[in-house]
Amino acid sequence: MPVSNPTEFQTSPDSADLQLSADGRLRHLLTLRGLSRAQITDLLDQSDKFLSPPGSPVIRSKVLAGRTIANLFFEPSTRTRASFQLAATRLGADVLNLDVNTSSRAKGESILDTIYTLQAMQVDILVVRDASTGVPAYIASNASETVSILNAGESIVAHPTQGLLDLLTIRQHKGAFENLAVAIVGDIAHSRVARSAAEGLMTMGVGELRLVSPRGLALDADTIPGAQVLHDLDAGIRDADVVMALRIQRERIDDIDDIPGIDEYAANFGISHDRMKLAAPDAIVMHPGPINRGVEIESSLADSSASVITKQVTNGVAVRMAVLSTVAKTLDAR
Ligand code: CP
Repeated sequence: MPVSNPTEFQTSPDSADLQLSADGRLRHLLTLRGLSRAQITDLLDQSDKFLSPPGSPVIRSKVLAGRTIANLFFEPSTRTRASFQLAATRLGADVLNLDVNTSSRAKGESILDTIYTLQAMQVDILVVRDASTGVPAYIASNASETVSILNAGESIVAHPTQGLLDLLTIRQHKGAFENLAVAIVGDIAHSRVARSAAEGLMTMGVGELRLVSPRGLALDADTIPGAQVLHDLDAGIRDADVVMALRIQRERIDDIDDIPGIDEYAANFGISHDRMKLAAPDAIVMHPGPINRGVEIESSLADSSASVITKQVTNGVAVRMAVLSTVAKTLDAR
């Protein structure tokens, strides 16, 4: 559901300028743009501490006891919404999952009136996913000083916790970023995942970043300075240490006739066992999900030992625990 007045948030301040408090603490998480290598490293280090071996009890803490987190997802989600809920619960918070379709938003209530209503119920952290650019920053610039906003996916521009979990997964498997060649493959133009991952990777000093897509689904070369924009998959994944496949974001494409058909896309940009023979011998395969098996990734490759897709999902809970803990400490320090 779009916000009721789609022009009201388009003049929001820049996300990167809003998210730090006056003393440099993370107050909101709206974008990975503007975060330093030290700040990202700190979030990744904290995330690692929230991971426990498979089959053992999950890590719990009371760092969010007395705090209330609200999930406001104005677009569908499985992974992000569930992992924010689990992360908040494991840290001792009360969690509200607002069902947007049956909320008063369906009666025309504005997004700010929805936020003010939740603030009045002493919600401390609002986790927001929206199809329109600028909504998280608009909310952050209008919310009470006692509230943090976390961007859980914004149009095509940002998905910062996904970017962090991708960085964490790469670091766990490959160590330092400096010597790595990373290929992000698919519908780069409409992917907030690609942008946040690319921004984070460049900040972390990745050796080589290749953005590989059909010509009609490419980013402008200057969107991510230093990244290579390629349209040939074989060249894009040759000797790559990390290959990240993306689905075509059909829900964000106005004219679907402008993009390749599924068979053409799978043939030219699908990641397969055969294609992976071009990558480094120990290359990992990533995908943010949801995956379209047989389109952007061969089904058996998604389930193979090279695939870290389920590891990304596990890391998503730990990253969200780290982000929630960090902004809660900022709120505590007020
Ligand atoms: N990767 C991701 O954002 O997945 P969901 O849409 O399921 O949250």
